[in-house]
Amino acid sequence: MSDHFKVKMQSIDDYDNRPKAENPVKIQDLTLRDGHQSLFATRGRTEDMIPVAEMMDEIGFWGMEVWGGATFDTMHRFLNEDPWQRLRTLKRYIKKTPFSMLLRGQNVVGYRNYADDVARAFVEKAAENGMDIFRTFDALNDFRNFETVVAAIKDCGKHFQGCICYSLTEPRMGGEVYNLDYYLNKAKDLEKMQADSICIKDMAGLMAPYDAFELIKALKETTDIPIHLHSHFTSGMASMTHLKAVEAGVDIIDTCMSSYAYRTSHPAVEPLVMSLIGTNRDTGFDIKKLAEINVVLEKDVLPKYKHLLDDSKVSIIDINVLLHQTPGGMLSNLVNQLREMDALDRIDEVFAELPRVRRDLGQIPLVTPTSQIVGTQTVNNVLFDDEDEDYKMITAQVKDLCYGLYGKTAVPISSKLQKKALKGYERGTKPITCRPGEVLEPELEKSKNELKGLTTDLEDIVLYTLYPVTGKKFLMYKYGKETPPDSLKARTLEDVKKADEIMAKAKAGKLVEKSSGQAPAKGEHTRTFNVFIEDEYFEVSVDEPGGQPVITYAQPPVAPAAPAMPPQAQAFAAPRAATVPAPQPAPAAPTPSAPAPKPSTPAPAPKPAVSDADGTPLTAPMPGMIVSYAKEVGDSVEKGDPVVVLEAMKMENSLPAPVSGTIKSINFKSGDSVSKNDVLCVIG
Ligand code: CO
Repeated sequence: MSDHFKVKMQSIDDYDNRPKAENPVKIQDLTLRDGHQSLFATRGRTEDMIPVAEMMDEIGFWGMEVWGGATFDTMHRFLNEDPWQRLRTLKRYIKKTPFSMLLRGQNVVGYRNYADDVARAFVEKAAENGMDIFRTFDALNDFRNFETVVAAIKDCGKHFQGCICYSLTEPRMGGEVYNLDYYLNKAKDLEKMQADSICIKDMAGLMAPYDAFELIKALKETTDIPIHLHSHFTSGMASMTHLKAVEAGVDIIDTCMSSYAYRTSHPAVEPLVMSLIGTNRDTGFDIKKLAEINVVLEKDVLPKYKHLLDDSKVSIIDINVLLHQTPGGMLSNLVNQLREMDALDRIDEVFAELPRVRRDLGQIPLVTPTSQIVGTQTVNNVLFDDEDEDYKMITAQVKDLCYGLYGKTAVPISSKLQKKALKGYERGTKPITCRPGEVLEPELEKSKNELKGLTTDLEDIVLYTLYPVTGKKFLMYKYGKETPPDSLKARTLEDVKKADEIMAKAKAGKLVEKSSGQAPAKGEHTRTFNVFIEDEYFEVSVDEPGGQPVITYAQPPVAPAAPAMPPQAQAFAAPRAATVPAPQPAPAAPTPSAPAPKPSTPAPAPKPAVSDADGTPLTAPMPGMIVSYAKEVGDSVEKGDPVVVLEAMKMENSLPAPVSGTIKSINFKSGDSVSKNDVLCVIG
């Protein structure tokens, strides 16, 4: 392979003027989207991308993925950042390299199919703000869900990259569903849709190196459209898979800067650049420039995010992926979900149940949102089913899937489950077979009306339509109607330094050392923290002398009905949960400096008092966020009527009335976070 490369290289500087390769492999960088999404729960802030933006623009990447996927959700929900603004800001620094985003087809950047007007407006706004390449995928590989967005992408004159989600039902490519023909046929479908490039999206890191070779070679023989490979490292195979894909002629490879690479992220760019030097697929990249970027990331950026890294395991690979063919993100969701329900010991039952649920649901690929749909339903089955009844608590999303609202599944859904799921389903009991977008009513006009008086900006309206509850909260902050809580603020290097100092003191046994002077009286706003250091535990009280008064925790209201605390104070107090006994963190994952934000459910709001001890309470079967109440105080309900919609792990669960009667009290409101067993309402 290296015959053409005759120049003798003695030092790294000699590589600067090496001859250009015949067929350089193109590289897309994912650091600023999938990189921090995979490793740091998508918490990367725009201000931390700017220090490396111009340097990265100089590398010669084919594209930089900077947006989409979970960024849109996380930014407005946890970072108090306007997702649209990030695009405009980054575009000021990254002028040469095309921007790429991950678009979930008709799911846009959310978790369900949205109406055509939403999908179109989203693409147009993204293009207007600087998006160039729209990497589009559908969780079911049902390309009818591309139709609306592809028309919009083409109308905007942008690059349509069609994805095929790589999925398996057995350890290697093949079998009844996900065999070579499946992928080649999907590629032909994308060719018909005039895809500008085709991406094989291996979100779980399932692709074995020799399967990659076979697949890429066959794809290159089938189509002239450039082939792009996206393979997560999770299982540990991706670096080998990349190399075999390069040998098979893949056109574009996805990588991250080394500090954002590996684990559930992607292989790093630097070893690939070095491996290919002198070959006919040499990237031509300047390895020294890449190293300079890493210095900035390591020194100025990553210390702020290190606490989010899952360091509960020593191993950086997850062989569960090889055993269960499930994406890493889905695995961590399952673990979190079980942990929140104090049922982590049932993980093996979940693994055993998962293939059955997936088969019942039509052997769908496991990728957002189907991985959450299958995962959550599996957990519900393990926790709530009994000998008498299967699928006792079916999520709203499984019902939608059974109705055909996500599209066509790889094989038909179990008819027994479909029938049960659609019993009393609001859209009808007969599933649809048309393109899902056709049955969805336009949504933007309704959102516009709901936002009257707050904003008329289309970007805001789209954001709110995608995320009504958290989107509304964000817009209230954005327009100064509410003060954002401190928990949404950025972690600074100063904060990191302080936390490190406390850690160092604690490790040296000096944390509990008495001050030499007279101790001042504890202030009224003293906050107490539990600090865990390996097996040791310290209770630390923090009082800010002369500082801003800190709202610690408002007492739960003694009066009946809704919590008296304003939403602001709740949001402010809840994540700190300082003076109330909080659930002990699992010993495996101590986070001494700052608690890592949970991926889906914010800390629970305080429990309101129950007003009527005589009634029958409807309790939360799991922690989550209240989406809505279907009833008001005074309404009469029949046993089994849906009363509350509770969002848990991004899935909506409709909770039925346990008895017939009248609603005596409603204890929460839309947007409130609740713990397991909280009394949501009382029926008497
Ligand atoms: Co990915």
